[in-house]
Amino acid sequence: MSIVVTAASSHLGRLTVEALLARGVPASGIVATSRDVRMIKDLADRGVVVRRADFAEPDGLPAAFEGVEKLLLISTTDVDQRVANHRRAIKAAVEAGASLVAYTSMLHADTATSVLGVTHYATEQDLRDRVPNVLLRNGWYLENYTAQLPQLLRAGALAGATGQGRISAATRADYADAAAAVLTTDGHAGQAYELGGDGAFTLAELAATISDVSGRQIANIDLPADGFTQVLTEAGLPAELANVLVDADLAMGRGELFTDSGDLRRLIGRPTVTPAEAITAALS
Ligand SMILES: NC(=O)c1ccc[n+]([C@@H]2O[C@H](COP(=O)([O-])OP(=O)(O)OC[C@H]3O[C@@H](n4cnc5c(N)ncnc54)[C@H](OP(=O)(O)O)[C@@H]3O)[C@@H](O)[C@H]2O)c1
Repeated sequence: MSIVVTAASSHLGRLTVEALLARGVPASGIVATSRDVRMIKDLADRGVVVRRADFAEPDGLPAAFEGVEKLLLISTTDVDQRVANHRRAIKAAVEAGASLVAYTSMLHADTATSVLGVTHYATEQDLRDRVPNVLLRNGWYLENYTAQLPQLLRAGALAGATGQGRISAATRADYADAAAAVLTTDGHAGQAYELGGDGAFTLAELAATISDVSGRQIANIDLPADGFTQVLTEAGLPAELANVLVDADLAMGRGELFTDSGDLRRLIGRPTVTPAEAITAALS
């Protein structure tokens, strides 16, 4: 019986496989799936079982999930296809006899109004009553900001549309370790964990932290929705993606990506990585 991690070539998938190994799960007890197994050949070389799984191609899912005990369903990227993709993966996991499905959802998905939150909640509903499940309601990634540091430092500005909204962001590695904790310990079925960093920040506070750590002055430019959409599309983002990101920023402004639950810290057994630490690491 195995722990299956889907989307294993994704940032979060890879980190979760690493966290499982670090927690002592033998490589042979982990099945890593991807649409393109060439992307995770390095995991196969280390003894992890590697199989192909594309949720858009359900015929291949029974073989991919064969022998599954616990499955980590990592949410997929294509927002339009997400709910249908996840539904096919859940069906295959149930038919393969999974005793637990952990799903990477989004903070407060049950009350979220954003496009992203609503799609995550649809999958939560699909899991309900079908299979014992645990909801990993992840907050925003700190990497959504640290990955843009070169551009932010060049521009001297961090633009957004979050207003005074506080954001409980954490690193992917912390969310991955929480997933690994849930997959390797008992008592999580039926839980919904609201996962976020220990310290929340407004974008103005994050800009100040970037300024402190980098020694360069970064201003926060808070824009109305149409202004931020324009910034993102002029930066080259497709309109559809820009709209989803602006919608997410507006949700952050309403506090939908804030939590003080402490669930992430408790699951990983240590404080979460702070924005200053993540910025320092990214700049080095
Ligand atoms: N909390 C946040 O701030 C935040 C930000 C961005 C995204 N997310 C969500 O969290 C997930 C993981 O984040 P990430 O940064 O690690 O994502 P990522 O590196 O962009 O990877 C997303 C992965 O989704 C998988 N995927 C896409 N279509 C699929 C399909 N049809 N069937 C099976 N798998 C499919 C792919 O895995 P393979 O290539 O291995 O098949 C892909 O690598 C994302 O997919 C997204 O749903 C959260």
